[in-house]
Amino acid sequence: MSKTQVFPEHFLWGGAIAANQAEGAFDADGKGLSTADMVPYYKKKDYANLSALMHVSSETIAEAMTTKTAAGYPKRYGIDFYHHYREDIALFAEMGFKTFRLSINWSRIFPNGDDHEPNEAGLQFYDNVFDELRKYGIEPLVTLSHYEMPMTLVLNYGGWANRKVISFFVKYAETVMNRYQDKVKYWLTFNEINTTIIEPFTGGGIVGDKEVNLLQASYQALHHQFVASSLATKRAREINPVFQIGCMLARMIHYPATSSPEDVQQAQFDNQMNLLHTDVQARGSYPPIIKRYFEEHQIHIVKEAEDDQILKKNTVDFISFSYYTSLISTTTPEKYGSTGGNLYSTVKNPNLKVTEWGWQLDPIGLRTVLKELYDRYQLPLFVVENGLGAKDTIEEDGSIIDDYRIDYFRQHIGQLKEAILDGVEVMGYTSWGAIDIISASTSEMSKRYGFIYVDQDDEGHGTLNRKKKKSFDWYKKVIATNGEDLA
Ligand code: BG6
Repeated sequence: MSKTQVFPEHFLWGGAIAANQAEGAFDADGKGLSTADMVPYYKKKDYANLSALMHVSSETIAEAMTTKTAAGYPKRYGIDFYHHYREDIALFAEMGFKTFRLSINWSRIFPNGDDHEPNEAGLQFYDNVFDELRKYGIEPLVTLSHYEMPMTLVLNYGGWANRKVISFFVKYAETVMNRYQDKVKYWLTFNEINTTIIEPFTGGGIVGDKEVNLLQASYQALHHQFVASSLATKRAREINPVFQIGCMLARMIHYPATSSPEDVQQAQFDNQMNLLHTDVQARGSYPPIIKRYFEEHQIHIVKEAEDDQILKKNTVDFISFSYYTSLISTTTPEKYGSTGGNLYSTVKNPNLKVTEWGWQLDPIGLRTVLKELYDRYQLPLFVVENGLGAKDTIEEDGSIIDDYRIDYFRQHIGQLKEAILDGVEVMGYTSWGAIDIISASTSEMSKRYGFIYVDQDDEGHGTLNRKKKKSFDWYKKVIATNGEDLA
């Protein structure tokens, strides 16, 4: 590392997507239906209540299960990455990506989740994708479960609330880790594992109206995911000791609304409840705070005798997280206006600007989060999601001048740099998403995150042609200079 360089020499620059938002081809080559395939496109949206938007009821599922086409279900067609991956990866390579984060769609490998044998065509697809990445020297960063699971596991087992799902997941994890042991080194088990509590269908395949006590079912499901994640980590180390395994948290830091001790206490509690996920996965046990919370909410987690040891012995190698926004905690929310948000909505922070979707923009919060996580765990960190959802306009000459996106990245990467100067160990940074994909929360296409524009509208009309935005060349320069030139 030269004297002037802040970012480590082999810093993993790249971008990220998820299978269910990008691949499309929902019924191709033996793939089974997954939870994401159940989510219809709602024209009318309440951005302040996105969690409700993502919610899928028994009625919605019944209709989706009998719908054989992709029309009206954007996550079924995505941006057809399934057939465009070569072209897309060539563009990522042109930007200089060192890594590319993607997820494997569980239902391509085990269409029902409980099948005896994996689906060879599904395995072959990811072989092709990883080979294509390797051709350009791009290191895959693979999430095993990103907001989808086979629908059979939901309908016949009740999703992650059922302990049996652990063994199905471990079998799936073993299958892909064995198969790709020479092609993939970096693995994440569950994307934003805290989503299982915030939006149980998306995170845990739990159908809310089927549960008498949804909170209880969600925490039980989360426990099963913790155990499954630890068992997959154990198997990973046996399969290839070179593997690096990470957990993944949607880190939304809570600031107190005022300096009143009540607000400070509330913010501390909210942060502890968010960080409990990384506590379990990095420290190997539930934090003390959870005992009182479970008692007060009459939550009783059913554990097997060996669970505590499984969690203790198989902690992760690194911590990855998404960072989009910070939140405000207060004991008197009625005093403030509320903002929208992704899975959370929060009271307004008067110091921050918000996006069209109500997400509060807080680049400095990224530095705070990086320092806090490193202080707490002393493990390498990986920023695996960070980006701006915005509407893009095509100019008359065909160009897309997304200066707002450049500005967003400039500020966030600038704060990442500050955190590294503060002594934080950061392995890499993958922007969300590398290319425009379907929005997780709203299923829109017009909420665009990419450096590459995809010609498709909210109803799924368009040529699917790819086009570079202005930010494409900007990010290329950032990578080429290893984060030195952010101008
Ligand atoms: C994260 C998810 O919460 O946020 C992604 O891991 C998602 O899947 C991203 O796409 C942005 O959210 P949205 O709803 O704007 O797509």
